[in-house]
Amino acid sequence: MPDTIRTERLLLRRWHDSDRLPFQAMNADPRVMEFMPSLLHAVESDALVDRAQAHFDRHGFGPFAVELLEDETFAGFIGLSIPAFEAPFMPAVEVGWRLASDCWGRGLATEGARAVVRYGFEELGLDSLVSFTVPKNLRSRRVMEKIGMTHDPRDDFDHPLLSEGHPLCRHVLYRLTH
Ligand SMILES: CC(C)(COP(=O)(O)OP(=O)(O)OC[C@H]1O[C@@H](n2cnc3c(N)ncnc32)[C@H](O)[C@@H]1OP(=O)(O)O)[C@@H](O)C(=O)NCCC(=O)NCCS
Repeated sequence: MPDTIRTERLLLRRWHDSDRLPFQAMNADPRVMEFMPSLLHAVESDALVDRAQAHFDRHGFGPFAVELLEDETFAGFIGLSIPAFEAPFMPAVEVGWRLASDCWGRGLATEGARAVVRYGFEELGLDSLVSFTVPKNLRSRRVMEKIGMTHDPRDDFDHPLLSEGHPLCRHVLYRLTH
């Protein structure tokens, strides 16, 4: 299984230790974390990197670290993961993304996500993918739409890891079938 994907502007690859510091900065950026329950401390951010690496080791795929080809800087993650919670749409593989805010608005998430979806269907042989976010995260929903995902409001769900009544509890689910 290839563990790098190259697009016109991005290298999607396994994580390097040098990604940890810029990833910590992203996870402490209120713009990036607007629709997450809280900003992450350095230790929590590092734990996400460890989880991404462990996901690759266990399943052979995971959330790729994103590197910009133009200057080799770390820009976040785009990739596939198996959600670690029970929900009506499980079992499923999720396609997800988080980029540094100075990289937004250039079509990079869509470019990387399209490549990851192709990889999931053609290399991994997956039949379908899901993606989810809070209703207000219009940027992320737009990426879902641009890669061809569709939203059926009957699939919307309350995130089981957030308490009922939490403002980020309700989620919209998007699906894509090969
Ligand atoms: C979601 C995210 C990855 C998008 O990255 P990006 O590289 O800017 O995405 P793209 O440029 O490929 O596409 C963004 C689309 O959203 C649109 N958009 C941007 N701001 C918007 C807004 N406030 N309302 C509606 N659409 C918006 C853009 O115009 C673009 O659509 P278009 O190509 O039709 O014009 C980035 O914003 C991010 O990392 N956000 C924080 C983390 C996050 O929310 N991750 C998802 C959690 S589920």
